[in-house]
Amino acid sequence: MIIAVDGPAASGKGTIARAIAAHYKLPHLDTGLLYRAVGQTVLDRGSDPASEADAVAACDFADAMLADPRLKESAAGNAASVVSAHPKVREALIARQRAFATQNGGAVLDGRDIGTVIAPEADAKLFVRATSAIRARRRHDELVRAGAKISFDKVLADIKARDLRDSTRATAPLRQAPDAALLDTSFMSIEAAIRHAIQLVERQI
Ligand code: C5P
Repeated sequence: MIIAVDGPAASGKGTIARAIAAHYKLPHLDTGLLYRAVGQTVLDRGSDPASEADAVAACDFADAMLADPRLKESAAGNAASVVSAHPKVREALIARQRAFATQNGGAVLDGRDIGTVIAPEADAKLFVRATSAIRARRRHDELVRAGAKISFDKVLADIKARDLRDSTRATAPLRQAPDAALLDTSFMSIEAAIRHAIQLVERQI
């Protein structure tokens, strides 16, 4: 069983995907982490995320970065959003995402293009969204809790810039698959969002 969970930054898709994976006892892959690892590798090398060649060269080293705590920070997220627009970077990361999806009996993957590109044949698809102000509030709270000193306005501006880049890029833009169930978490608690998400999956499988 393959379950695809897509949506913009801080929509709740990661939390929801983890809960669905635990519910069905399936492995979970946060595909954003792969792009963050490529973005952080590019930054560490002093290279330019906008250079497709530099970003592709970083793909081979990304696996080694996946446990790096800096991947959670906004610098890695912003670099990820730039490197992920390069078609050759996406191509380099497709095989390992598909392999994960089809390994022993299935998986839950969350990202931007799981239901549209990585696993269009998924058994269940969710598209998770929330307003940009609410997503920025959640992300800001999370960053402050982790000790970051960053203003709400900066987080909101980052989220809006990321949404724009992710949804307007030519290759695999952020888009709801036609057969994905829509879940708006704007006014839901985490518990309610998880409950709704599992109901929506149950209706599709
Ligand atoms: O989900 P997360 O915020 O960690 O993703 C970081 C960035 O990686 C996103 O802004 C997006 O540009 C990119 N990404 C992507 N495709 C995915 C997952 C993430 O392009 N499947």
